[in-house]
Amino acid sequence: MTDQVSTLLMFGATGDLARRMLWPSLYGLHHDKLLDATLRLVGTARSELDTAAFRDQVVDALKEHLPAEFYDEATARAFVQRIDYLAMDATDPAAADKLGALARDYPGKIAVFLSTAPSLFKQTIERLVAAGLSGEGVRLALEKPLGTSLASSNEINDAVAAAFPESHIFRIDHYLGKETVQNLLALRFANAIFEPLWNARTIDHVQITIAETIGLEGRADYYDGTGALRDMVQNHMLQLLALVAMEPPASFNADAVRNEKVKILQSLRPIAQDRVESDLVIGQYVEGEIGGQRAASYVSELGGPSMTETFIAMKVNIDNWRWAGVPFYLRTGKRLSSRRTEIVIQFKKVPHSMFEAGGAHATSNRLIISIQPEEDITLELMAKVPGLDFGGMRLREVELGIGRADAFADVRRRIAYERLLLDLIDGNSLLFVRRDEVEAQWRWIDALRVSLAASGIRPQPYAAGSWGPPAAKALVGRHGVDWND
Ligand code: BG6
Repeated sequence: MTDQVSTLLMFGATGDLARRMLWPSLYGLHHDKLLDATLRLVGTARSELDTAAFRDQVVDALKEHLPAEFYDEATARAFVQRIDYLAMDATDPAAADKLGALARDYPGKIAVFLSTAPSLFKQTIERLVAAGLSGEGVRLALEKPLGTSLASSNEINDAVAAAFPESHIFRIDHYLGKETVQNLLALRFANAIFEPLWNARTIDHVQITIAETIGLEGRADYYDGTGALRDMVQNHMLQLLALVAMEPPASFNADAVRNEKVKILQSLRPIAQDRVESDLVIGQYVEGEIGGQRAASYVSELGGPSMTETFIAMKVNIDNWRWAGVPFYLRTGKRLSSRRTEIVIQFKKVPHSMFEAGGAHATSNRLIISIQPEEDITLELMAKVPGLDFGGMRLREVELGIGRADAFADVRRRIAYERLLLDLIDGNSLLFVRRDEVEAQWRWIDALRVSLAASGIRPQPYAAGSWGPPAAKALVGRHGVDWND
């Protein structure tokens, strides 16, 4: 084991994320005996509860959110014995006294997880500092959104930096905790066959799709002020892009990997105003049907008019040697046809197809890295169709695949937060976002928003259950490309 903390203090312990993800993840780690027997978990929130009542709430959350086959009452009851609860309002100065008492009651290293509204971050940090819970002995994890622009994210980052060294700050992008996202590193850097091909000479373009079927999910206040660009592209999408595009890190260590990611984020070509119309499409869903069910429009879910984009597709370029001239097509949206996150690496055509004369057509190879709902990696290759075709041959695409479900059938699927919480407890920041990455992400997004506003383009309607506005198809179509729908 590495440098484990002895206490994990969780703000927002009764919140939605904690109930759905954080407590179930900690249960998973406890179940698999990955937590030190002495590790204490302290939940804090405003509700006036005692520890026994809070433990019951956690057990209820586990029952509700864990797969039935993984939930075990006795293990859950043993797990919650690790948990204590402290009712506290971080906006009240008295919170500092409570935290001071906590620091005395739970000596040793502490990890603090802020799973609260970002508007509470600054004040909570002030209370932590007042209680002596800052500096070298404390790790701090922050959930998104880290601001809504470079300036507002800097405000949060400055407040955090005044209290903690960067090496102790764990900025969460939960996509980095997903198995297949980490598997991208294994695919690229534990196999010799891909790296020589991973560049502009061989790759025609890359597609990254994060499609969701869900809509607002009761998050109207947050989402309507945010939109797809800042909710998904600024963080998850750009992190995926950085992992696909980065140079091979020299070692599997936090700074080596993050140094390479940040170089990509800093090499993103800004989308200038005169490129907006050709390189970007925004959309908003109208009424439609998903999986046989009627789905309401965004504005009726919201209960009022809005110009917020629930879909965005764009062509992005990375201005460096490896990727010169290779477009990265990104798209993400709510209420799309199916839930699917995938990365498609489209290779170039063979330079000369000797089979064409005989009427056989070779399509380009594709590597499809499917992140969810299925974790699969598929390489599409051309093969001869068996048979005695006179004067030539027939070709057909065949798939060479690693289905995780089959290849690793014996391994339990984990929640992304299991990895991230364990790394926080252990002090490994490889899968967390460093400040310069967040800054590079926001700098690019801010510039894009300026171009967008100046261009005056508006969200185009798309039916819920479709793949977005037709213009998204046209965007790639202009370059002879089709989305992998
Ligand atoms: C969150 C966004 O960061 O990621 C949500 O705020 C989105 O809007 C979610 O639904 C998607 O995460 P996942 O793991 O379900 O793909």
